Amino acid sequence: MANAPDVATLNKDEARTELARLAAVIAAANEAYYRKDSPELSDAEFDALKQRNAAIEAVFPDLKRPDSPSEQVGAAPSDGFQKVTHRVPMLSLGNAFDDEDAREFDRSIRKYLGLGDEAPLAYTAEPKIDGLSLALRYEDGSLVYAATRGDGREGENVTANARTIEDIPQSLTNAPAVLEVRGEVYMSHADFAALNERQQEDGGKTFANPRNAASGSLRQLDPRVTAARPLRFFAYAWGDLSAPLAETQYGAIARLAELGFSTNPLTERCDGSDALLTHYRKIEAGRATLGYDIDGVVYKVDDLALQTRLGFRSTTPRWAIAHKFPAETAWTRLEAIDIQVGRTGALSPVARLTPVTVGGVVVSNATLHNEDYIAGRDANGAPIRDGKDIRVSDWVQVYRAGDVIPKVADVDLSKRPDDAAPYQFPEVCPECGSVAIRDDGDAVRRCTGGLICPAQAVEKLKHFVSRAAFDIEGLGAKQVEQFFTDGWIKEPADIFTLEARFGAGDTPLSDREGWGRKSAENLFAAIEERRTIPLNRLIFALGIRHVGESAAMLLARHYGGWDRFETAMSGAVIGQGEVWEDLTAIDGVGQVMATSLVTTFQQEREREVIWRLSEMLNVEDVEAPDTAGSPVAGKTVVFTGTLEKMTRAEAKARAEALGAKVSGSVSAKTDLVVAGPGAGSKAKKAEELGIEMIDEDGWLELIEAG
Ligand code: IVH
Repeated sequence: MANAPDVATLNKDEARTELARLAAVIAAANEAYYRKDSPELSDAEFDALKQRNAAIEAVFPDLKRPDSPSEQVGAAPSDGFQKVTHRVPMLSLGNAFDDEDAREFDRSIRKYLGLGDEAPLAYTAEPKIDGLSLALRYEDGSLVYAATRGDGREGENVTANARTIEDIPQSLTNAPAVLEVRGEVYMSHADFAALNERQQEDGGKTFANPRNAASGSLRQLDPRVTAARPLRFFAYAWGDLSAPLAETQYGAIARLAELGFSTNPLTERCDGSDALLTHYRKIEAGRATLGYDIDGVVYKVDDLALQTRLGFRSTTPRWAIAHKFPAETAWTRLEAIDIQVGRTGALSPVARLTPVTVGGVVVSNATLHNEDYIAGRDANGAPIRDGKDIRVSDWVQVYRAGDVIPKVADVDLSKRPDDAAPYQFPEVCPECGSVAIRDDGDAVRRCTGGLICPAQAVEKLKHFVSRAAFDIEGLGAKQVEQFFTDGWIKEPADIFTLEARFGAGDTPLSDREGWGRKSAENLFAAIEERRTIPLNRLIFALGIRHVGESAAMLLARHYGGWDRFETAMSGAVIGQGEVWEDLTAIDGVGQVMATSLVTTFQQEREREVIWRLSEMLNVEDVEAPDTAGSPVAGKTVVFTGTLEKMTRAEAKARAEALGAKVSGSVSAKTDLVVAGPGAGSKAKKAEELGIEMIDEDGWLELIEAG
């Protein structure tokens, strides 16, 4: 290094070359340090290299590499991880809970593709690993970054940590120029037990299960901690790619194995649903001896061209499903029933249990759903559990499946104490004393207090700051609860005036217990950062009943901007008129959701809260996806007659993905009619109205030209 040229004398080309050299030397030094446990450089030499790298980056910021050592190695940024935007979103899988669901999956795919019940249809079936997913981006064969799934759109950059995992190659030969490999990071049972033992001896934190241990270990700010944790990785999918890996799922997995990734040995090609179920039983039978946790079997359509045709729903692929293993159960005593009030006022009964281990996790609370469930009947009054009710001090069976909240499933009457009395479900809200009522056909009793109910208000705030909503770093459920109790934050808008009110003055946040100057500054900065928010997140954050994350996205894509959305919701008339028609015509928005939206925006108190909030924000417009250059974006299309190259469902899904609106009837608003053989009255009407009409081939040409 003694003869390395002075930073100040480098021209741009030399700087670029020098940054590349430094990235390689530092990566090699890290490899020696973290993975081989045999440092090749002294700490001082290593620091000097990093300083030189930083100095060059300071002079030429635009030359900073995606794998810049200043971003990754050694100490991670002190405020957590950098964010990475996934070029291809990381989605989750739909679930099948029994054989019938699995068969239905196969049937629906055949239907979508227009295949007969007996036509050959190949799948791959492989274990669903119970860990956390990770994306690994390689450019020209070098690992550039590793990112967690995060919310699917944006994850955390955990590159330095991923580099410490044995199963993750640092470089690849003969790989496509761009290759993003996806898979699961997990920990074996044996490594998990040893880790917990070590942690206990050192007085450190122990983990509830291998998945938590894997997640906690991968998301360590100090990669040396990760390096000391025995993590493993199975590759099973991919994201961004410059060239296809193969023509089939099975072939692609084989290719990943050739490139040096661990792939699961229980991956098998299966023809049709019987073969899938046979392989499911085989994997289930061997589950206990695998040595790592799996929670089901994933079925994927094998032919990648068919996967493309099948495409995605809003958050899950149509071409894959997770067939979950049945839940695990245990028996324990029901000590008490508490009532929790949720953000929509729902009174939810919670079982307080004598702690019991269910499938490796200690459970002390479980849901009892609603009053009918406790009484032993379903929503239609028919008996469940043979009509057995559940009483405090009963001996109950607890059931847990994956991440789902544990449930009380059954009760053992032979162990019921003589003095156990039937449970009386409260008819007033335990939090605010308002009447709690059940609407016809609703299984849930709800507090009528609205925002005057402190429980509803605080739950709404917790939802507002949750991960898929505003996701404000440093402002979680616990902090919201404290601020709410003290009257600092009563409604969402108050979050954005927190700094003005408590940044300085007599009672600054930094003087509060548990806060200091730095943490208060960080919180204010995190809040400032979220003042700009995409429309879909804002809609979801409002916590309107029936409006979940994917519905919020559908609404955002439809209305595009806050003003249009707000005007429509405040101006709509339930059940009639153009605004209402337009709202309920959105695929995925039904009458119930639409009513809930419009009612919320037309209640004075709610409306004021929303208005005060919107005044604080810059709401980013949301564009309909991938329709740039689409020849049919924004057009209303009607399909009629027989389609020969695709099914109706596929035609509709593809048209919608290209930004078109698909309607079932021809009217003056129709832009285009695609007519196949046998088209009747709709084609005639289109002709009368002078609407453009094309056949199926014309349609395919049109959309493929886009
Ligand atoms: S495929 C587009 N295959 O399960 C979906 N996922 O519930 C691509 N997982 O987020 C996922 N084992 O973390 C796939 N063999 C497997 C899997 C698997 C575990 C996880 C993954 C995903 C989640 C979905």
